[in-house]
Amino acid sequence: MSGKVVVNRCMSLDGFIAGPGHSMDFGGGRALADFVAPDDFAEIAAATGAMLVGRRTWEVGERMEAEEPGSVDYPFSGPMFLLTHRPLEPPNPDLTILTGDIEAAVATALDAAGGKNLEILGADVAGQCLRRGLVDEVLVYVLPVLLGDGIHFSAPGLAMTELEPVSSTRSRDATILRFHVRKQSDQTVE
Ligand SMILES: NC(=O)c1ccc[n+]([C@@H]2O[C@H](COP(=O)([O-])OP(=O)(O)OC[C@H]3O[C@@H](n4cnc5c(N)ncnc54)[C@H](OP(=O)(O)O)[C@@H]3O)[C@@H](O)[C@H]2O)c1
Repeated sequence: MSGKVVVNRCMSLDGFIAGPGHSMDFGGGRALADFVAPDDFAEIAAATGAMLVGRRTWEVGERMEAEEPGSVDYPFSGPMFLLTHRPLEPPNPDLTILTGDIEAAVATALDAAGGKNLEILGADVAGQCLRRGLVDEVLVYVLPVLLGDGIHFSAPGLAMTELEPVSSTRSRDATILRFHVRKQSDQTVE
């Protein structure tokens, strides 16, 4: 059986998934893992079989890791797919680079997830997936902060997308919200 395609992100209460300059500081320099109860975090990671990551998200992660080793601490070690038009310098043998059609990329990564969920990381990549009706679930960790500015949950161009509430759970200092995406054939705003 195939797993779900899940857009998974932490978000400030005012709807930003990163601050200005792609800062991932959601208050006090705390890592995401520190906001969420360890059991919940581990359970979500254990349900994840693969990740599909946008190039900018990857670069922000690399920058964080360079500035503070260990700061990207998601407990996941499965197949990782990077969507990019440019080669990585130096190449990274732990990654598979995909390019072009988003539907084909999602199918490849979901297949590699081996029946578990595929996590979609990156606002642009998530927007492409939502517009093409490829997303089953949106999972948001709402963090207790108003950032005021930064990277919005979704980039311009996404039409109204109706969601169905699945669950809402308080987890340490975060609130985990899950929504099922009602499928639409084409959600692009021209
Ligand atoms: N809060 C959270 O949980 C969370 C989670 C994930 C990301 N983020 C944040 O979101 C921001 C990044 O999101 P973003 O929207 O700026 O960028 P993104 O979605 O991470 O990456 C977009 C880039 O990926 C490449 N790409 C996308 N689709 C492609 C395709 N079909 N074929 C080939 N390459 C493709 C392109 O890069 P090239 O053309 O340059 O190769 C594109 O510019 C960062 O600030 C990150 O920290 C937050």
